[in-house]
Amino acid sequence: MQVRIVEDPDDVAELASASIARWLREADGPRSLGLAGGSTPRATYSRLREEDVPWADVDLWMGDERWVPPGHSESNARMARETLASHVPARLHAVPYGDDPVAAAADYGTTLRLLLSGPDGEVSPTVIILGMGDDGHTASLFPGSPALSNRRDLYVAEHVAAKNAWRLTATLPLLWAAHRIAFLITGSAKAATLARVLGGESDLPVRRVLDGAGNVTFFLDRAAASHLTEHRS
Ligand code: 6PG
Repeated sequence: MQVRIVEDPDDVAELASASIARWLREADGPRSLGLAGGSTPRATYSRLREEDVPWADVDLWMGDERWVPPGHSESNARMARETLASHVPARLHAVPYGDDPVAAAADYGTTLRLLLSGPDGEVSPTVIILGMGDDGHTASLFPGSPALSNRRDLYVAEHVAAKNAWRLTATLPLLWAAHRIAFLITGSAKAATLARVLGGESDLPVRRVLDGAGNVTFFLDRAAASHLTEHRS
């Protein structure tokens, strides 16, 4: 695990976009990039679209999605299109929207299994970008979520009480299969939770990702890192 600490959110976007671009360039075979939603990644996506990446060979997919119509202001795919996908020749595979979030999650999981599987038939995402909520959730895996125990599916739908809304999310097995994971975390509101995660508090979803993931890099600004007693760069 690497922890990169830079001054402010713009520096996080600059460092993360350069690193992700390099990982995509250096990847062998089919390239994929899993995208986080929320607000933090916007700056990184806007920089990433200017980076030297073989975008025509890259498949973009959503690490999680809110259960809203495609054009809705809350849609993560809409944000990804606005900041990145409509500016590069990569293919964005959005979560299908319809009548049934559970069926949509299962369909999307099937799509991802076909899209992300390597020659050995194993799911092998190149890079996944994730964020963290101030409660320690990531993607739409929230503390105490039954989805955290799912080892069979790649993608599931849950009604999230904390949000009073349906959310669709990658499960831990899909996240753990990534060659690289980049966490983008900024702001003082997340500092205490991040310190709990990096201090080993095991029940937080971000920690559960670390328990099984291969190569994880945290891209932090000083405010988010302000409670870390080690890892200071
Ligand atoms: C979402 C995200 C979610 C996000 C965190 C942090 O759909 O909201 O995928 O996991 O990464 O909630 O969100 P911010 O970047 O807005 O703080």
